[in-house]
Amino acid sequence: LSHQVTSPRLAQTIAGIRFDNPLGLAAGFDKNGVALGMLGSLGFGHIEIGSISAHSSQGNPRPRLFRVAQDEGIVVHYGVPNEGAPAVAARLEGHRPPVPLGISLVKTNDAQRPATDDEVLWDYLESFKRLERYASFIDLNLSCPNSANDRNYFDEIGKIDALLKRFASERPRVPVFLKLKPTLDAGWLRELVHTTDAYPFVAGFGVNLPAGKPPNLKVSIPRTALEKLPGAIAGRPVEGFINEHLRLLYGVLRPKSRYRLMAAGGVFSAEEAYRKVRLGASLVQIYTALVYRGPSVVREILDGLSRLLERDHFNTISEAIGIDSRSG
Ligand SMILES: Cc1cc2nc3c(=O)[nH]c(=O)nc-3n(C[C@H](O)[C@H](O)[C@H](O)COP(=O)(O)O)c2cc1C
Repeated sequence: LSHQVTSPRLAQTIAGIRFDNPLGLAAGFDKNGVALGMLGSLGFGHIEIGSISAHSSQGNPRPRLFRVAQDEGIVVHYGVPNEGAPAVAARLEGHRPPVPLGISLVKTNDAQRPATDDEVLWDYLESFKRLERYASFIDLNLSCPNSANDRNYFDEIGKIDALLKRFASERPRVPVFLKLKPTLDAGWLRELVHTTDAYPFVAGFGVNLPAGKPPNLKVSIPRTALEKLPGAIAGRPVEGFINEHLRLLYGVLRPKSRYRLMAAGGVFSAEEAYRKVRLGASLVQIYTALVYRGPSVVREILDGLSRLLERDHFNTISEAIGIDSRSG
């Protein structure tokens, strides 16, 4: 049943985790960890479940998902519905995931009012304590563009520092990634990395969707109507901006940096996955491509990626990572 893509060219060890290939399922698809066996059989090198919060949450009112098919995009305004950490922990108990499992954590969505600092810290710590033992790595979603009140909470790097300080006192046993809002503010990224340097369990960074609607969409509905659709856009329309962010972030990292980058945003083909790798991503994730192309896209991307690496005379994927972002 399982047709793993096993080209040795695609394998790497990151933060002590062996990945057979760099392509993973992005957070939000399997929010509650209900389909690990099936998803593993598609060929993914890792699966990220969640985002999961301390309490269960219904998410935002419907409708909260809109296709913009001409653009191969999805407008998403879910607001992180999930069953909550205790329920997901109970489901994962006794199951061995088929590939490395990332667990994405987010603060419980509360549209009524902004959370206090203590509530935010408590929420992440609580779900972390419940779920760490089931995870190969933890991905802290610090940037959900759909959580009404908490979207910009971690814009202030001091808040990230406070959260990591609390995590440090729990002595994380698995590597922790931070999924951030994409930005072209190099100063902010430098300050971020300076802050995370103090926390050895931070293994790297991921990138979430930018808030709002990018310009130049092909979709035929009027711009004013589009702006009224709540939410952020996933898929092809965000590829360019996220790649710019990736290039900048990779450039901010020191050459022998311990940080590894994980990137999603508009990857539909091997060429687009390869582009992210060359810009600095060690791991590439997809969501929207699964929706528009179906499950065979996973193997298509991996076969193609392996061929592209071979064409360009890379023996392993590690040699290609960041090659287009190194400043001369
Ligand atoms: C419907 C939907 C739900 C999502 N939910 C989450 C989520 O719960 N947590 C998270 O970190 N990212 C979430 N994302 C973002 C994806 O993980 C990914 O970063 C983004 O969609 C870009 O990849 P893509 O262009 O391949 O879709 C969601 C995306 C979509 C389309």
